[in-house]
Amino acid sequence: MIRLMQASDLNAVSRIENLVQTHPWTLSQFQDSIQSYQSTVLEMHGQVVGFCILQPVLDEANLLLMAVDPQQQGKGYGYQLLAESIQFLKNNPIQIFLEVRESNLAAIALYEKSDFHQIDLRKNYYPNKEGGREHAIIMVKTCTEDFSQLFKL
Ligand SMILES: CC(C)(COP(=O)(O)OP(=O)(O)OC[C@H]1O[C@@H](n2cnc3c(N)ncnc32)[C@H](O)[C@@H]1OP(=O)(O)O)[C@@H](O)C(=O)NCCC(=O)NCCS
Repeated sequence: MIRLMQASDLNAVSRIENLVQTHPWTLSQFQDSIQSYQSTVLEMHGQVVGFCILQPVLDEANLLLMAVDPQQQGKGYGYQLLAESIQFLKNNPIQIFLEVRESNLAAIALYEKSDFHQIDLRKNYYPNKEGGREHAIIMVKTCTEDFSQLFKL
């Protein structure tokens, strides 16, 4: 089940983030994200297994962050979380943008499966663990789900 993130989810969300990211968001960043963005969690059997933070901007949106609990990965939850979180957006975006580390092949594959494609490369954008830098791949998804709406007068 997808639902909006609540204050009571923050510890579970932050735990997942700390397990998967080299430069994790802080608890207070997640707290702010509840107010500032569309922050959703995927709950299975009463447990938060993943989260997704989307920033609606006018008629577009940016995917800021998402993750699935490492013990729950590879079960289709990431795909479900992203698809349902996008559907949940109230601004019906025309396009959704994201940035992803070039080395993050699992995420890139998920995004491609979700109809995102690369439009740009930002060189040496992310710091990495070893003290070096890593390129960011910029991707976009065009939301053309309901063509009939486009041609309605
Ligand atoms: C990226 C992430 C969210 C995917 O979540 P997930 O629940 O494991 O993904 P799913 O099981 O729904 O897989 C969906 C698709 O993603 C791709 N994918 C997922 N894991 C993959 C892996 N280890 N290697 C390659 N492709 C992978 C596949 O295309 C898969 O589709 P398929 O099963 O039909 O092949 C998860 O790996 C994660 O939390 N990673 C750490 C945080 C992160 O990198 N977030 C994104 C950047 S902010």
